[in-house]
Amino acid sequence: MEESGKKEKQTILSGIQPTGVFTLGNYIGAIRNWGKMQEEYDCAYFVADLHSLTVRQDPAALRKQSLDAFALLLSCGIDPEKSLIFIQSHVPAHAELSWILSCYTQFGELSRMTQFKDKSAKHADNVNAGLFTYPALMAADILLYQADLVPVGADQKQHLEFTRDVATRFNNLYGGAFKIPEPYISQTGAKIMSLQEPTKKMSKSDENKNAFITILDEPNVIINKFKRAVTDSEKEVCFREGKDGINNLITIYSILTGKTVAQVEQEFAGKGYGDFKLAVGEVVADKLAPVRENFKRYSADRAYLEQVYRAGADRAAAISARTLAKVKKKVGLAAR
Ligand code: TYM
Repeated sequence: MEESGKKEKQTILSGIQPTGVFTLGNYIGAIRNWGKMQEEYDCAYFVADLHSLTVRQDPAALRKQSLDAFALLLSCGIDPEKSLIFIQSHVPAHAELSWILSCYTQFGELSRMTQFKDKSAKHADNVNAGLFTYPALMAADILLYQADLVPVGADQKQHLEFTRDVATRFNNLYGGAFKIPEPYISQTGAKIMSLQEPTKKMSKSDENKNAFITILDEPNVIINKFKRAVTDSEKEVCFREGKDGINNLITIYSILTGKTVAQVEQEFAGKGYGDFKLAVGEVVADKLAPVRENFKRYSADRAYLEQVYRAGADRAAAISARTLAKVKKKVGLAAR
């Protein structure tokens, strides 16, 4: 993200869709780390509202959820004094570059995207072109800011690979327009599983509300959901193949307490699943309490939110315009 021409820190960029309140999966796999990276990197984070249009949305709900998502990012520790933070649709360069990149993208490679296959099976009555070209928009998001690193959960890895492919292809044709970004996926917590079907990813679009924790759930709701979490018929709290439910709970507990898996196993040796589930619920409720408190404050302050997202959009527009101008020139679009 070169603004002044001189550059020292690497650039981090990531986004999140505003469909529904963020889950514990989003928090552990992605956002929790975003705030921590602000000191070391030049960071850009955004609400990916254009991506959400690939699934039919209620307009009033989407508008509200986008503002809530913006307030949630602030609540999770993203500081607008340190990071660039904006709403994707406020920056037209994303849609423009997405179109150009889609002309350098093959039908075959988009057909192989697992998210496209999953979502088109799930929304069989609305397999729209946007759902198909979604990766080109995501590539545009990343490449516009010349990002070095993209912190995401494991489910986004294939989209990152596509981004690298399309950027390399473009660079080979026209000479270095884009930095080739690296995915930044943590070793643990990159895939938090459903509490009800622990072989499936925890997802905010799950119809079973007990399957996921939202980061605004009240403590008693969190604890009850963990009490109901599906585990197995054994008794031992240990991380082992086949114990998907317990493995997921150990992962969550270990990440949020900073303890190793071995320390967690030791802590609960000889104790039952009931005690363990309660302990996990309590830690999660505890960690999310400040986020909930911050959200109350930010979401009530509409004027502040407006000021922050407008300033973010202006800065994002200035940075992205540079890459877009370079690309337009390279592909032969006439200058204005
Ligand atoms: P989205 O909105 O589905 O999810 C946001 C982030 O949360 C991660 N995540 C998880 N991590 C661990 N366990 C889970 N159960 C879990 N569920 C979700 C996701 O991997 C993601 O990092 N296409 C993206 C948004 C996007 C984007 C971008 C991201 C648009 N443009 C550019 C990075 C760069 C998406 O739908 O994420």
